[in-house]
Amino acid sequence: MTLYKAGIITASDSGAQGKRVDESGKLLKQYLENSDIGINVEEYQIVPDDRKKLGSLMEDWVRQGIDLILTTGGTGLSPRDFTPEATEDVIDKQVPGFQEEMRRMSIEKTPHGMLSRGVAGIRNQTLIINFPGSPKAVTECFNTVKPALSHALETLT
Ligand code: MTE
Repeated sequence: MTLYKAGIITASDSGAQGKRVDESGKLLKQYLENSDIGINVEEYQIVPDDRKKLGSLMEDWVRQGIDLILTTGGTGLSPRDFTPEATEDVIDKQVPGFQEEMRRMSIEKTPHGMLSRGVAGIRNQTLIINFPGSPKAVTECFNTVKPALSHALETLT
């Protein structure tokens, strides 16, 4: 079985300053490693909500040959939410279906599901998907995209 390489980015000013424990990034790591897709989480970083820092880390990981980058946080409306913009700076092509389905499912659970501006796309052979920041949202959204992840990774390589 192919072992895909994954990286997880938690976008959080307070997390990067060590003022908040990052539950959501750890959950994503656990979900990926416990999935039957064959994924090894090789990278994990908590990054401040800074468009340039987020984008350059994604670019580093693309160059490094990471197959899948999942981000959590920074997708909302607050002035320091830049994760979708940083992702758009990096990707060559959008893969809108991931976010269409995440938002559809999320809105069924809470009207606040409308507030996540997350994007998904590919740069070279790396798939990048934004997730909202709360542990609850990460859990709900991961379960939603998981059925398509394996085939997405297969078709990219
Ligand atoms: N999606 C799901 N499935 N469940 C949730 O609880 N929370 C929403 C939304 N998406 C939520 C969700 C809320 S409250 C916000 S503000 C936005 O995601 C953006 O979150 P972020 O800024 O932490 O990325």
